[in-house]
Amino acid sequence: MIKQNFRLSRTVRPRWYGLRIEADLDSWGYRAHEKIELDLGEATREVVMHSVGHRFHEVRAFFHGRWWAGTAESDAEAEIVTLRFAEPLPAGSVRLDLEFSGEILERLRGFYRSHKDGKRYAATQFEAADARRAFPCFDEPEFKARFQLTLVIPPRNRAISNGPEVSERVLPDGRIEVRFAETPPISSYLVAWCIGPFEVTATAFTQSGVPVRVWLPQGMIDKAEFALQAHVRSLDYLEAYTGIPYPYAKVDAIGVPDFEAGAMENPGAITYRLTAIAADPVRASVAARKSIFNTVAHELTHMWWGDLVTMKWWDDLWLNESFATFVGTKTSADLLPEWGLWRDFVAALSRPFQLDALASTHPISFTVENAKQATERFDVITYWKGAAVVRMLEHFLGADAFRTGVRAYLQRFREGNAQAEDFWRELSTASGQDVASLAQAWIKQAGHPLLKIRTRRSSQGLHLELEQTRFFADPERAQSEQSAQLWPIPVVWKWAAEDGVREQRALFAEARGEVVLPHAGWAYPNGNASGFYRFSLDPTGLEALVPHVQAALAAHERLNLLDNQWALLKAGYESLRSYFALLEGFRQERDRAVLGTLAEQLGWLWLHVVREAEEERFGRYVEAFFRAQWQSLGWEPRPDETDDDRVRRAILLHLLGNIARARDLRSAAAERIGRYFEERSSLDANLVSAVASVAAAEGDRALYERYLAHKRAAAQEPEEEHRFLMALASFERPELVERTLRLVLSEEVRAQDAPFVLNALLARRPARNAAWQFVRSHWQELRARLDPMLLQNLVRGLAQLTDPESAAEVRAFLEAQVIEETRETTRQACEQLRLDAATVRRLRDQLAAVLEAPTLTAG
Ligand code: BES
Ligand code: ZN
Repeated sequence: MIKQNFRLSRTVRPRWYGLRIEADLDSWGYRAHEKIELDLGEATREVVMHSVGHRFHEVRAFFHGRWWAGTAESDAEAEIVTLRFAEPLPAGSVRLDLEFSGEILERLRGFYRSHKDGKRYAATQFEAADARRAFPCFDEPEFKARFQLTLVIPPRNRAISNGPEVSERVLPDGRIEVRFAETPPISSYLVAWCIGPFEVTATAFTQSGVPVRVWLPQGMIDKAEFALQAHVRSLDYLEAYTGIPYPYAKVDAIGVPDFEAGAMENPGAITYRLTAIAADPVRASVAARKSIFNTVAHELTHMWWGDLVTMKWWDDLWLNESFATFVGTKTSADLLPEWGLWRDFVAALSRPFQLDALASTHPISFTVENAKQATERFDVITYWKGAAVVRMLEHFLGADAFRTGVRAYLQRFREGNAQAEDFWRELSTASGQDVASLAQAWIKQAGHPLLKIRTRRSSQGLHLELEQTRFFADPERAQSEQSAQLWPIPVVWKWAAEDGVREQRALFAEARGEVVLPHAGWAYPNGNASGFYRFSLDPTGLEALVPHVQAALAAHERLNLLDNQWALLKAGYESLRSYFALLEGFRQERDRAVLGTLAEQLGWLWLHVVREAEEERFGRYVEAFFRAQWQSLGWEPRPDETDDDRVRRAILLHLLGNIARARDLRSAAAERIGRYFEERSSLDANLVSAVASVAAAEGDRALYERYLAHKRAAAQEPEEEHRFLMALASFERPELVERTLRLVLSEEVRAQDAPFVLNALLARRPARNAAWQFVRSHWQELRARLDPMLLQNLVRGLAQLTDPESAAEVRAFLEAQVIEETRETTRQACEQLRLDAATVRRLRDQLAAVLEAPTLTAG
């Protein structure tokens, strides 16, 4: 067995931990005293537990009425320590007593360092398997135990942990000792503490009386109110939905200056990246508030789904994440109906769809051998395909039956661990249907189906001949592979009869079949966009549908249709001409989410397919498509307009200013960004990023310096700081591209942000070659600086180099640089790159002819 696949014995189980940590932020060191109460299934001379990087000063066990000294032997590769005793520990209850010291790490995992505005902070991030870097423990999700923490911290600092503070005293040397109440049983990956000069809001309360506070680094507490309310409202909603009171004593939500992921669901002490929690009460954009609310609702869903009921092992991680993603969206969508968030959910599915169309995808539920592999499981399949399948199930069973099943499941396994089968069983009982066999096909099989539809009209209506195969993005694979995979597809047909639009549900589980839709004139095969499948309509079916798209389909359905056709185009099922013909049905589109998807697709063509000689003509097409809509919106928001309108204005500005290079908008953007630096209120917050990027495109060094200075000055306003950091990547002059690249490895850019800046540069035509050369020549440095999830992001970013020559280089490079934490991501990025490079070649041949067609530029 490889050492890193080591799993702990099930016969030694922790029941209780007492942990006293003395943290020294000056030396970045700590010393700890740990007590553990164990239940031993049998007598043993050795106790094996997880531990990395600790120096043991004392090892003792209490049994047979006295203390026995032991020894500690660490194994770095297996990430364990073996405690040995001269006398066997008897079966039953035994107490361990350990003293050890460790280092507060210079990375974003374990017990780690953070800095802000010259001050020191320290925080923890333990999921998936880094609690072992902070303290010796039984670091697998199955070993739930109660934790009682005490932190000794430097003067003038605050400490937060999972339990409420029960006492605080100043020690004779001036340090502060904070003692926290014992937690209910939780897994080690959920233990958390934060230390630093934090500030805190006043306590708010939910209807049921749960106390909630938000903590932010010094000087920012005026940006906590939105998140505070988001926590309170989401908690009220989730208590009602689950029928189970919030399981912990309080909620503290903490913004940490350096953070690898977006947020982490530690019970009672939820940690966040600053952009995911801090919002300026006046100036925050809709996008920022939306993302904060979604993140908060997601993490709070975990309090029940993940924290109270925890997966037994990491292969069921999707049970945590897909449910938090789905119910998190449900929470924010129900609480904020004006934002129409299910559209964003459907839009987000284009990513899992794309990954899942690769041969290198993986099933939602998939074997995980060890902790390093677990970090690659936090991907769009686990989160978003998983959430989409859960949503599909909810639609199929009905929301009431689904919720009844959820409640029964949470009740039955509270404070324990569960597996997927346990969930299916409760859903089956609640709905009276055999959920397991339906769900299993979607959870255990890689990929998703393509529903091919052949349309025949008759006097009765539409006769549809159906066939299902696995959908592959690789045209060759799609041709050659007669895949034997089948899915039970809950198809929702939407069609128009004489008396209006109708819906019909039918489970299609065979390779072939037929459906008759009486009196139908057209049909759309994914009602409510609730199915995780692709469909291909033959020309008859597509032509019948397109004229009705605007009137008969909801925005999220139009969005799904657009995304579906885009996937067919990239996979070679459809031609560029037919894609542009489809777009004719979207000329009147006014929905900001559909326009967002459209802008992404046109943006991709612009970045990858359009050649210099065609740029102007492509620009004219975009100009003709969107100019009238921009004119009717205008630059200035009207007092009565919706948030959607404000977001739409920014999308249109990007399309016209960046892609179509409209002269008037470019000079207006330059002028407006100048005014903005003088007077922040002169520009709507939702427009700032688009204006900044349009203005940067032709910006000179002087403008660059202003962006940089503005970013530095915005250190206490995370959205603004991040916005102008990202805007630096929009400058096109070669010396400014180089400047941004150098900044990425300097103190100026936190590791947490570095891959996003690099990926923005890797996406832009004027910057991407330089960015690629830079990434290649600084790979070792980047690898050392970036924690695994950040490195995985960069690997994905490199897959944007679709130019045939760079694509070959990038693939060779990535394959040579694989490490355990990037194995799967690399395989996927390389496959995606190979396919995209081929798609680019194919579409380039078609683009010139398509742009010739006179109808396309007639607005
Ligand atoms: N459990 C995750 C955080 C996490 C991710 C920890 C990966 C360790 C490794 C958390 O619940 C989460 O999913 N956060 C998301 C935000 C959410 C709104 C999708 C994230 O960090 O991106
Ligand atoms: Zn999550």
